[in-house]
Amino acid sequence: MRVSVIGAGYIGLVTAAGCAHDGHSVVCIDTDKSKVDSINQGTSPLYEEGLDELLSHCVGVAGNLKASLEHQDILGTDISLICVGTPSNSDGSINLGDVREAARRIGHVLGRKKDYHVVVTRSTVIPGTTTDVIIPLLEKYSGKRVGEHIGVAYNPEFLQEGRALKAFFNPDRIVIGEFDKKAGDILAGIYQGISAPTFRTDVTTAEMIKYASNAFLATKISFINEIANICHKLGVDVYQVVKGLSFDYRIGDKFLSAGIGFGGSCLPKDLRALVSASSTKLGYPAPLLRAVLDVNETQGLKIVEIAERKLGDLDGKKFAVLGLAFKPNTDDVRDAPALRVVRVLLEKGASVKAYDPEAMENAKAVLPPGVEFCNSAGEAIAESDCVLIMTEWDEFRDESLYKGRIVIDGRRALDPRKAKALCDYQGVCW
Ligand code: UDX
Repeated sequence: MRVSVIGAGYIGLVTAAGCAHDGHSVVCIDTDKSKVDSINQGTSPLYEEGLDELLSHCVGVAGNLKASLEHQDILGTDISLICVGTPSNSDGSINLGDVREAARRIGHVLGRKKDYHVVVTRSTVIPGTTTDVIIPLLEKYSGKRVGEHIGVAYNPEFLQEGRALKAFFNPDRIVIGEFDKKAGDILAGIYQGISAPTFRTDVTTAEMIKYASNAFLATKISFINEIANICHKLGVDVYQVVKGLSFDYRIGDKFLSAGIGFGGSCLPKDLRALVSASSTKLGYPAPLLRAVLDVNETQGLKIVEIAERKLGDLDGKKFAVLGLAFKPNTDDVRDAPALRVVRVLLEKGASVKAYDPEAMENAKAVLPPGVEFCNSAGEAIAESDCVLIMTEWDEFRDESLYKGRIVIDGRRALDPRKAKALCDYQGVCW
């Protein structure tokens, strides 16, 4: 199939590379020239395991993937996948600016296309967006009828950064929300080579499935963090509690790692957007989901409270911050708990030496001046008064790195028993 992907961010690029790997002919359209150039040289503009290799193969060897600045390249394709960002507004509501722009531009191009064309949104959008925003824009700018000349579908992505390609090729499920059946059939054709349960439904239900999925994952994390905080007061290890829980098939052991809470480009933002839309548009204040956000908000700064209890006034204290990405195996720092903690430490007059194997450039771009970026964990740790482990990268899991130091572990990166034998070790909630 001939596929155009609009947006070369994490989702767009993984989707484009995944489709090209599966034999489709793909053009990835983005307005950022440096991204387009990088992709056309077969190099990923972002860090995601396996993506560089796959891009270089599809662009350079197979020749079935290219990037472009031109939306008119949509004309040579059968299906367009909208994969642009949906950031938060300052009040937490969803910002659909890029989605609207993509729909306008696609509509404009489709005004000139003779054949039926399918437009699929993969960006996470508030339920109702496809019918209330995207379809009217496509019809307005193309002058054509959706359901007749243009097919529309919503196909949520469930890609976890760090294992996004694996998730693309081996998804737990494929959800196809179709406005018209023909669009759903054509979209299903993209995933022909992938073996996974496929659930076909209407577009609004598919949009809601994505939010419900992220809301549930976030709820699991805040739930276990709340349990961990209670366990901590009782002197009970929450990780042992989870082991005991996990034998119950209804509960399992996934997404129950207690620590400094969830960050990233999706869970915090999507939860805020859902709470905001539910409260303001639907008149339902979503108290459970608000509590999930509240627990996460407090959890992120517990590591600073512990440091204050151990060191007293933080003014003039030297911190080593290990890990800046919101989780390991990514260079993404969006809503990363580490960034918030670094800002608070600086405000309190502490000095910060930071290290992350992949995310330093992205962190440098958003952190205030004053942070010293190091070339290794060892360099950051040397001469520190206190080490904070904020991301559980494998290279931080070596207890011997921390000999004689005060260490606060936000991610259960270390084995507490081994660590306690070597350093002054404290888990954030164990
Ligand atoms: C998430 C969803 O998992 C994915 O399906 C969706 O498409 C996008 O959002 P991602 O943001 O890549 O994926 O990260 P995820 O692995 O879900 O982790 C999110 C955050 O939760 C990270 O900060 C992680 O450290 C934290 N987390 C995760 C915990 O604190 N405890 C856990 O048990 C699991």
